[in-house]
Amino acid sequence: MSISFKDKVAVVTGAGAGLGRSHAIFLASRGAKVVVNDLGGSLDGTGESKSPATQVVEEIIAKGGQAVANFDSVAAPETAQNIIRTALDNFGTVDILICNAGIIRDKIFWKMPLDDFDLVMKVHLMGAVYTTRAVLPVMKEKKYGRIVTTTSAAGLFGNFGQTNYSAAKMGIIGFMNSLKLEGQKYNILINAIAPLAATRFGEPSGIFHEEIKPFLRPELVTAMVAYLCSAQCQITGDILSAGGGYFSRVQIVEGEGIRFDPKHDVTPEMIHENLSRIIDMQNSVGFFSITDELNKSLGPLVRG
Ligand code: NAI
Repeated sequence: MSISFKDKVAVVTGAGAGLGRSHAIFLASRGAKVVVNDLGGSLDGTGESKSPATQVVEEIIAKGGQAVANFDSVAAPETAQNIIRTALDNFGTVDILICNAGIIRDKIFWKMPLDDFDLVMKVHLMGAVYTTRAVLPVMKEKKYGRIVTTTSAAGLFGNFGQTNYSAAKMGIIGFMNSLKLEGQKYNILINAIAPLAATRFGEPSGIFHEEIKPFLRPELVTAMVAYLCSAQCQITGDILSAGGGYFSRVQIVEGEGIRFDPKHDVTPEMIHENLSRIIDMQNSVGFFSITDELNKSLGPLVRG
């Protein structure tokens, strides 16, 4: 079985560099017509330039692929709409959306200007929201769509100095969790990648040691992203971690828990005495939706 993107149209945001560039080049190499979107600014979101997206398009075309550049920002509804319109005007449809564009403005929270919080939320979370909103009517109409959002271990697990980025990256998960339910009927699947790759993102924190950088090629993340974009992919609402050849699933799970008789009051002392059992995660389980979770947490009350 080989995975092909022939006759598929893909929009990749933030595709002028790093991971997005790798995703765009790979999809094009497997036959996709690609909109290479990139605002071309610096890591903190200041400035703009047409050259990163233009260069990636030239690279794709030089290898015999099809691509067109777009230089709009994902961070406003109208410009996000333009990105999708670029695909419709040039290629007639959209099958795949990869929400990848991102910036960072790290600072310990109590010193962080709230504008820095807002902007990071706007680019990562609202950028995914605006582009997805713009593409959904097209995917709904054709009853086909593959959307990959980009989260981060910083949001999933926490990282010092990144409250803004972590909030945005976790917001993307909440967005996906509910959108997957709305998209299922239309064969629109949405998953999230939690990547690790030695791009300019890791530079300010120096998080990647020099000796492992050669293993942190963006292409190793792209393998998973490409799979999630393919017709062969049938999973939806999952978080996949990928980097340095490592692949795994990340999931929000709930512990087994305990139940006090709801006919009687529960005191903080009872919580204290039973805390180890309440927070125990040994028999934890994940859920596909709130319905499944309510079945566990409240179901026994209904069933008696
Ligand atoms: P990068 O900085 O090389 O690529 C991000 C691209 O997004 C840049 O080319 C930039 O110009 C573009 N961009 C920024 N704001 C934009 C906007 N408003 N509209 C359109 N394009 C815009 O960084 P990298 O590492 O490739 O990041 C890609 C995604 O992966 C980001 O969402 C990032 O948060 C995420 N990520 C990366 C990790 C890593 O280890 N590199 C770890 C976890 C998440």
